[in-house]
Amino acid sequence: MKKRIFSGAQPTGRLHLGNYLGALKNWVALQDEYDSIFCIVNLHALTLPQNPKTLRQKTLDLARIYLAASIDPEKATIFIQADVPEHAELTWILLCTARMGELERMTQFKDKSQKGGRERSSVGLFTYPALMAADILLYHTDLVPVGQDQKQHLELTRDLAERFNRDFGETFVIPEPYIPKSGANIRSLQDPAKKMSKSDENEAGAIFLDDDADTISKKIKRAVTDSGTEINFDETRPAIHNLLTIYQLVTGKTEQECVENFAGKGYGQFKGELAEAVVEYLRPFQERISAYDDAELNRILRTGAEKARSIASVTLADAYQKTGIR
Ligand code: TYM
Repeated sequence: MKKRIFSGAQPTGRLHLGNYLGALKNWVALQDEYDSIFCIVNLHALTLPQNPKTLRQKTLDLARIYLAASIDPEKATIFIQADVPEHAELTWILLCTARMGELERMTQFKDKSQKGGRERSSVGLFTYPALMAADILLYHTDLVPVGQDQKQHLELTRDLAERFNRDFGETFVIPEPYIPKSGANIRSLQDPAKKMSKSDENEAGAIFLDDDADTISKKIKRAVTDSGTEINFDETRPAIHNLLTIYQLVTGKTEQECVENFAGKGYGQFKGELAEAVVEYLRPFQERISAYDDAELNRILRTGAEKARSIASVTLADAYQKTGIR
């Protein structure tokens, strides 16, 4: 029996190179070896204000992005979170398992609530990690491939599963995070102290997956660098480290090959080669993005939801039975 992976992304904002290198790329690499389930987490999107029409469109667009990134619907299950109501139902049980203190420690809530203020944040934004835990636990997931920013949510998921199992009897598989050594933490091109983010107000900080070649080149040319001239993987020079990491991931070269390639070259030449490599890397993806029409997409998502539901309903029934709800 193959082990199972589960992961997902929110259909909000524009997906960027960090999402691709930190998550999608690994999903694709793992889909042959693992029984794979990839979700478009539209319920999570509601934790911040959304325009209904845009949300609907972005949900389908994200399915297109999964497929264009080479997730194969013949191998992997792709579905929309809200098409499987068990996610919201198990969330309630997990919310009653979680402690206020645990959720209060989540750094993503602190970050995301900063802009509008804690008092005005939705309660959904606060309880969001329990929904994420439900996503993962419903499928008896072994491994969760995500970027570094989701690590804390994964730890909470494990704690909730362990607590539930201890209190009510063996029910959930305890999932392991899969966070790649390289690429899990792509930084903003404008401020390497911040991660590359969908919600960054400064668009120059992110390379979006639908940026054209010219925009990508401009953003890379304008990217901040560090003092000094060497181009190497030095953690104390985070801007160059980040750019070189991107170069390494999109070319598939080893660290040593990357450093050798740029020995004695200046930042200008480095950025030129990096821009070219990123454009080439995204080209096949960008060409495939319109390959699926809505009918085909809806068929894939319907099949995915049926398959997901056949697993999720059994897990939920078990959790209801164990807690005395049914
Ligand atoms: P989301 O939509 O913010 O991001 C999708 C994936 O992209 C990764 N990521 C990054 N990786 C590297 N560098 C970056 N700068 C970067 N920014 C984002 C994220 O870590 C993520 O893997 N809560 C999740 C969605 C989710 C989920 C789940 C994931 C809901 N339920 C169950 C796994 C399992 C989120 O908001 O991801």
